[in-house]
Amino acid sequence: MPPQDDVDKIMAIMVAAFDPAYGEAWTRGQIESALVIGHCQYWLIAPDGTVPDEGDEAAGFALLRRTLDEAELLLFAVSPQWRRCGLGARLLERMMGDTKVEGTTRVMLEMRQGNPAQYLYQSYGFAAVGIRPKYYRGIDGERIDAVTFTCPLG
Ligand SMILES: CC(C)(COP(=O)(O)OP(=O)(O)OC[C@H]1O[C@@H](n2cnc3c(N)ncnc32)[C@H](O)[C@@H]1OP(=O)(O)O)[C@@H](O)C(=O)NCCC(=O)NCCS
Repeated sequence: MPPQDDVDKIMAIMVAAFDPAYGEAWTRGQIESALVIGHCQYWLIAPDGTVPDEGDEAAGFALLRRTLDEAELLLFAVSPQWRRCGLGARLLERMMGDTKVEGTTRVMLEMRQGNPAQYLYQSYGFAAVGIRPKYYRGIDGERIDAVTFTCPLG
């Protein structure tokens, strides 16, 4: 099992960071399953940009699944009070650097169309390569397209 303190940190950010209107937040059970049987990795970042120690506050996290030489960024979030301080960029850099060292050649992700996170992703070399029509469903039943982005780790 992953350290429960880390799962607590991820869940606290999850609840704060994802707009409930889009139903994008995962449950604790989904996170634990992803880490235990889904072979996912996670990264945490503290408000000062370091890796938080046990019991310290975390400001953001990333969750990634690797398959052979590809990886999928499944979740990526910074708590609202710590946004636009460069923490998302730092977390993305750390995740991409570590993943490249482990032999991954490409990172992909799926994002709700119109999510401003695209500006951050694009500035790190992610390019939109496809649309999945009506892939997400908001809690009001509205269907929203997903955009698939990929980024080579050259
Ligand atoms: C996406 C997210 C992780 C960005 O985290 P962050 O810590 O605010 O990002 P940074 O401060 O590192 O931003 C770096 C740059 O990315 C761009 N950027 C980030 N958020 C942006 C926004 N909302 N609008 C426009 N540009 C943005 C800007 O160029 C920014 O630089 P600047 O602040 O100097 O202009 C955060 O907004 C978040 O948690 N959103 C909700 C969860 C989510 O939608 N995650 C993505 C799922 S695919």
